[in-house]
Amino acid sequence: MKIMTVIGTRPEGIKMAPVIKQLASDPTIESVVVTTGQHREMLQTVFDVFDFQPDYDLKIMAPNQTLTQITSKVLLGMEAVLKKESPDLILVHGDTSTTMAASLSAFYHQIPIGHVEAGLRTWDKYSPFPEEMNRQLTDDMADLYFAPTKLSQDNLLKEHHSADQIFITGNTAIDALKYTVSNNYHHDVLAEVLPDSRIILLTMHRRENQGAPMQRVFETIKKEVEKHPDVEVVYPVHLSPRVQQMAKQVFADEPRVHLIAPLDVVDFHNLAARSYLIMTDSGGVQEEAPSLNKPVLVLRDETERPEGVTAGTLRLVGTDPKKVGQAMEELLDDTAIYQKMAQAPNPYGDGRAAERIVSICKKYLGSLVTNN
Ligand code: UD1
Ligand code: UDP
Repeated sequence: MKIMTVIGTRPEGIKMAPVIKQLASDPTIESVVVTTGQHREMLQTVFDVFDFQPDYDLKIMAPNQTLTQITSKVLLGMEAVLKKESPDLILVHGDTSTTMAASLSAFYHQIPIGHVEAGLRTWDKYSPFPEEMNRQLTDDMADLYFAPTKLSQDNLLKEHHSADQIFITGNTAIDALKYTVSNNYHHDVLAEVLPDSRIILLTMHRRENQGAPMQRVFETIKKEVEKHPDVEVVYPVHLSPRVQQMAKQVFADEPRVHLIAPLDVVDFHNLAARSYLIMTDSGGVQEEAPSLNKPVLVLRDETERPEGVTAGTLRLVGTDPKKVGQAMEELLDDTAIYQKMAQAPNPYGDGRAAERIVSICKKYLGSLVTNN
C-alpha cells in the first residue's frame, strides 16, 4: 500500500506529523511525503521538531505569492510526482491552497483522496478566505473524510456525502501536543517576562484581516496593555510581509509588546501552556488552547470551529475595537469570567486521531483490493 501525504504550510505540517509518524511505523505501508513548499522556513522547523524529511519538495514559495501562483504551481508540480509514484491513496489536510490544488491534481489522475480535518464549515465563501472554498472543494473531490468532531461529520452529511465514507477521528492537533509540551521547558522570552507578568500570546495572519482590521486590533491591544501594567504581549509574527509591516508599524514604541520571529512548534506550544490568555485568528491555535486550559479571544467574525465556542473556551470577538477591548478587560479584570473559560472542556479529541486515520486507510485500501 503506497500512501502519499501532501503538506505545504506550517499548520498542515504540524497536524499531519502524527499521521506521517504513524504511517512510517507500519511495515505494510510505503509512505511518501510531499511538501509543495508553499511555506519554507516556517515548515522547515516542523520537519526538524518532528524529525522527518519529505521525499519531494516542490519549492513553490515566492514572496507575497498570489493564490493563482500557488494553485497553478502545485498542480504542475504534483502532476510530475503523481506520475512517478502512482500512490494508492493521497492524504491532504485542512483548507490551504496546497490542500485544494493537490486534491485536484489527484482527482485528475483518478487517485483516491483522504481528507484529514474534513467537514469544517462557515458556509460563507469569503470567510475565511480562501480557506472556506478550499475545504468545500476538497470535500467535493474526497473519497475518505476524517471528520474531527460530530459537528464536522454532520456538516458533511448535510452536503450529502456518503455516511460510510465519513469517520469521526478527533483532531490530530491534539495528537501533536503529546510530542511537544513539557514541564522542563525554557525560552529566553519567557525568562524575560515571567514570573510577575501575565502573558498574552498573540497570533494574527489571515488574508481577510490584513490591512485595516489588523491595524484596529493591534491599536486596541496596545491601549489595553497600557491600562494593565502587569501584562506583556508576546507576538511571534508570521513571515508574511504585509503582517510584518503592520506589526512593526503599530507596536514599534510599546516595550511590553514583544515582536519575535515565528516560534518552532515546541516553543509555541510551551509558551501557550504558560500564557494567561491567547488572542488569535489562527485555526489550529483555537483547537490547541482548550487542551492547555487557556481562554482564547478569536479575532474573526466567524469560526469553522464552533465546538470551542459552545464548550466555553473560545470567544468570537472579531476585529471591532469595542468588542476586542471589552473582552480583554473582562478576562484581565474578572477572575470568575477567566476561570470559567479556562476550565471549559476540550472538544477536539483524545490525541489518538492519527492511529484511527491510518487504520481506516488500511481497511479502505484492503477493500479496494478485495473488490477488484
Ligand atoms: C497560508 C494558508 C492559510 C494558513 C496559513 C498558515 C493559503 C491560501 N493560505 O497562509 O490557510 O492559515 O498559511 O500559516 O493556503 N512566507 C515566508 N516564509 C514562510 C512562509 C511564508 O517568507 O515560511 C511569506 C512569503 O512571502 C509568502 C507569504 O508569507 O508569500 C504568504 O504565504 P502564503 O502561504 O501565501 O499565505 P499565508 O498567509 O501563510
Ligand atoms: N504555531 C507555531 N509557531 C508560531 C505560531 C503558531 O508553531 O509562532 C503553530 C500553532 O501551534 C498551530 C499552527 O502553528 O499548531 C497554526 O498555524 P497558523 O496559525 O499559521 O495557521 P492556521 O491554523 O490558521 O491555518
